[in-house]
Amino acid sequence: MITAAVILGLLLLAPAIWFQSDLLSGYVRNIPWFLNTKHSLDTSSCPGYTLSSLSETYSGLTAQLSLSGNACNAFGHDIANLTIDVKYETETRLHVNIFDTDQRQFIIPESVIKRPESPSASYAQSSDLEFNYDASPFAFWITRRSEAHGTPIFDTRDHSVPFVFEDRYLQVASILPLDTNIYGLGEVVSSSGFRRDMGSNGSDGTIQTMWTRDDADPLDENIYGSHPVYMEHRFDEKTQKSQSHGVFLLSAAGADILLSTPPGAKNSRIEYRLLGGTLDFYFFSGPTPQKVIEQYGAVVGLPGWQPAWAFGFQLCRWGYHNIDETRETVRRMREASVPLEVIWNDIDLYHDVRDFTTDPTSFPGDEMRAFIRELKSNHQHYIPILDGAIAHQVNDTDVYDPYTSGVEKGVFIMNPDGSEHIGQVWPGFTVFPDWFGEHTQAWWTDALTNWSQHGVEFSGIWLDMNEASSFCEGSCGTGANLSDSKLPFLLPGAPGNPISGYPECYNSTVSGPSGNITVDGISTHACDDGYQPKVKRRVFSVESGADADEPPYSIHNGNGKLSARGLASNGVHAGGLTELDVHNLWGMMSSKATHVAMGSILPGERQFMISRATFPSSGRYTGHWLGDNFSLWQYMHYDIQGILQFQIFQVPFVGADTCGFIGNTDEELCNRWMQLSAFAPFYRNHNIKAAIGQEPYRWDSVASASRNAMAIRYALLPYWYTLFANASTIGTPPVRALFFEFPDEPELFAVDRQFLVGRDILVTPVLTPGAESVDGIFPGRNSVIWRDWYTHGIVDTNSGSYTTLAAPLGHINVHIREGSAILLHAQPAYTIAETREGPYSLLISLSAEGRAFGTAYIDDGISSPPGPNKILTFSVLDGQARIHADGPFDVAQKLQEIAVLGVGRKPTKVLLEGKATKNWMYIERTQELIANGVDGDLNRPLSLVWL
Ligand SMILES: *[C@@H]1O[C@H](CO)[C@@H](O)[C@H](O)[C@H]1NC(C)=O
Ligand SMILES: *[C@@H]1O[C@H](CO)[C@@H](O)[C@H](O)[C@H]1NC(C)=O
Ligand SMILES: *[C@@H]1O[C@H](CO)[C@@H](O)[C@H](O)[C@H]1NC(C)=O
Ligand SMILES: *[C@@H]1O[C@H](CO)[C@@H](O)[C@H](O)[C@H]1NC(C)=O
Ligand SMILES: *[C@@H]1O[C@H](CO)[C@@H](O)[C@H](O)[C@H]1NC(C)=O
Repeated sequence: MITAAVILGLLLLAPAIWFQSDLLSGYVRNIPWFLNTKHSLDTSSCPGYTLSSLSETYSGLTAQLSLSGNACNAFGHDIANLTIDVKYETETRLHVNIFDTDQRQFIIPESVIKRPESPSASYAQSSDLEFNYDASPFAFWITRRSEAHGTPIFDTRDHSVPFVFEDRYLQVASILPLDTNIYGLGEVVSSSGFRRDMGSNGSDGTIQTMWTRDDADPLDENIYGSHPVYMEHRFDEKTQKSQSHGVFLLSAAGADILLSTPPGAKNSRIEYRLLGGTLDFYFFSGPTPQKVIEQYGAVVGLPGWQPAWAFGFQLCRWGYHNIDETRETVRRMREASVPLEVIWNDIDLYHDVRDFTTDPTSFPGDEMRAFIRELKSNHQHYIPILDGAIAHQVNDTDVYDPYTSGVEKGVFIMNPDGSEHIGQVWPGFTVFPDWFGEHTQAWWTDALTNWSQHGVEFSGIWLDMNEASSFCEGSCGTGANLSDSKLPFLLPGAPGNPISGYPECYNSTVSGPSGNITVDGISTHACDDGYQPKVKRRVFSVESGADADEPPYSIHNGNGKLSARGLASNGVHAGGLTELDVHNLWGMMSSKATHVAMGSILPGERQFMISRATFPSSGRYTGHWLGDNFSLWQYMHYDIQGILQFQIFQVPFVGADTCGFIGNTDEELCNRWMQLSAFAPFYRNHNIKAAIGQEPYRWDSVASASRNAMAIRYALLPYWYTLFANASTIGTPPVRALFFEFPDEPELFAVDRQFLVGRDILVTPVLTPGAESVDGIFPGRNSVIWRDWYTHGIVDTNSGSYTTLAAPLGHINVHIREGSAILLHAQPAYTIAETREGPYSLLISLSAEGRAFGTAYIDDGISSPPGPNKILTFSVLDGQARIHADGPFDVAQKLQEIAVLGVGRKPTKVLLEGKATKNWMYIERTQELIANGVDGDLNRPLSLVWL
């Protein structure tokens, strides 16, 4: 869903032939932060703290911190007495919690995010990490036990940034190695890429603001989710070895987190500036990127189990105006033989754009029920949108039960004077659920249950606008005319607001108004200027709030004031909590409430949910889409960093609006993007109202490219499924940056134009228009064999540098790592259910030593909690492939074929289960042995031997 100001932005730019997102985002801020009153951030007179009364505890230590001098009251009131608790919670996790001794500052309740169990053993002597401190002025630093004199992983002895702990302002900084590798801190679309910009010599760097915010994917600003966690990857030039660690600040406070390199400095720095709360840090010792992510998952909770069908292709747009159009889309997908697993509706579904309704004329409830049941009978699914805000009754005779019953039960956020906090969203004026309210969960569950009983028999839920977004600045006020449901902007496609933008290099004399390219191939479509990413950079500045309702320190919220396009920061939640303290939790808490509701509506089933706003622990309940992106090549590239970020955040089921949301797409961009997203966890094509259609069947080349990529995706389903089982059981990220797997190769640290699915599948998409080839780096520096997915041929790689690969339109480069054994569905079908009914095959890619290994997790794909499973282990060595099967789940489908890549010479004999078989062939060119007609029972051990 698009936001108000972006539509205004589009309006302003309507005459432009194609738009630049940087221009757009220049228009989207209601009150640009740089227009706020500026003060200098002077905390130099802040006295710092002195540590005393230290005592050792079972799992660490505790001590008092007292203010060392006169309060500086920089942006609030200095708190005189603090407590520091240090707990060695596991060998790999150190918890440092600094809080006000009186405990008046907000902390996230255990009922919202449950903390890990207290340590059952004392790790103080065995932990990988060590806590060190100076008593006065108080500072602490964390070292690795294995390198007590090495550079600390976190070090607050940077006295140019004093330690400040006030009621409305907290500040702490750590020295970091110069230009170190930092990943995470989000949510953001970072113009500098997945690796965050540390700046140099006083210039640039990163300001990551933590304030969940509705804005259409601007660059380098805070957006929908807040994730104060990062991973740092350090490479030692001397040993050529690397280690990763992680740092998580468990805080919901609005905050700026700055990465910078001061002028002339030999170090870089991370600096936290918080609007409240406490300093509750977790440090993870890694030492590999994947271990860091797993260790973080152990604190915030592991991702929920996905149903198998979630991996199918999903299609949506704003502007399927009625049930017939929606049904017609499903029909045309099948007619074009492009697999469709899930069809979605946007707010078109609603009556008066109100949650929990269907429009009686265009989406009548009984027809919806019939439609959804028909989908189900075809193994397909339906997902509706659910917006954050609840429509306000427009007059006394207006009947809208979610509102009236909510008022009765007292479930909405209030103003400080006890009146309703009124905002404005799609239906007009609205109220907002208060997830802290005692009766909110029951009310929400009832509303969702009623909806599903009135025809919307959803399989999953799409949560939108849950930052929470509102078109007013704070409360719309008591004087608002509630019956006026006009929006303060024009909808896309309304007279005066056409969607006229096209992707970069779109040439209207070559391509038609339907966004297609009609000339054979793309050679005539070359872009005159070449492709130049458009980038807007932000500059550092220090500011202080101009408004009495705002905290004295003003974070770099992209919307300006905290309440701009959101709720008033003085909004009141149950228990007297204020919006200022709990704002960042809203989206996650709405996901959690929806998770609980769905548990009662679809008992025993795994849930499917996609939420726009997220926070640490969101992954337990929901996946995420990367919000309102643009139909631009530039944004297709950003798609990859977004997917990688959310692997760190433990919300691994993620993907972008394929073919782009805002603006018109074109055939070439949509073709490339449909192929790229086939390798993303969440695979959905979604489009804005009034833009040209972008369903894959709109263009023959896109339909064909989609079918090809989807066939690979559905073949790989057992692999995806296993990756997500590992995510849900140990927190391992399913999608990986190249350096996650090859941590000692610095040339990979900034790579975000390629990625790995799991350990074994390398994806090298085309991300620029007019390309016939793509440059890809192959990790492993020639010590690893990579084989082409399609030809099975070995790639002739350049050690540590790029290799040019052919990439005609409709072809996405996919490579298989050596030493892998991947279980596949042998017959990808139209739906996931039908695909799962077919037989399996096994693809083995041998290392130079003739080894390979892999596993596969299989179960019924839907039960929650997961029922019995089967874990298959594939080990290949010395010309023998062995399959070991473990677990009670009965795998009904047979193993049809085993393909072994890298068998150096034609075997003289092939034995299946110890018996010679004739059902095999050998392909000399690719050194490939194919045993077919295997007909193997995957519930028992199996072996294939070649001599
Ligand atoms: C801080 O702690 C000291 C020592 O316990 C106590 O005397 C003092 O009153 C406390 N100050 C505040 C503001 O609570
Ligand atoms: C760093 O910036 C300062 C000005 O802020 C300049 O004088 C100096 O030459 C710069 N150093 C480097 C290495 O660029
Ligand atoms: C009250 O609102 C309802 C629903 O929008 C509308 O149908 C009705 O005409 C309104 N009544 C008055 C008196 O305005
Ligand atoms: C492609 O564009 C041309 C020129 O606008 C148009 O005539 C044709 O119908 C379009 N084809 C498709 C499949 O959209
Ligand atoms: C658009 O394509 C036409 C035909 O190939 C070419 O002459 C023209 O220069 C192109 N325009 C731009 C802006 O690239």
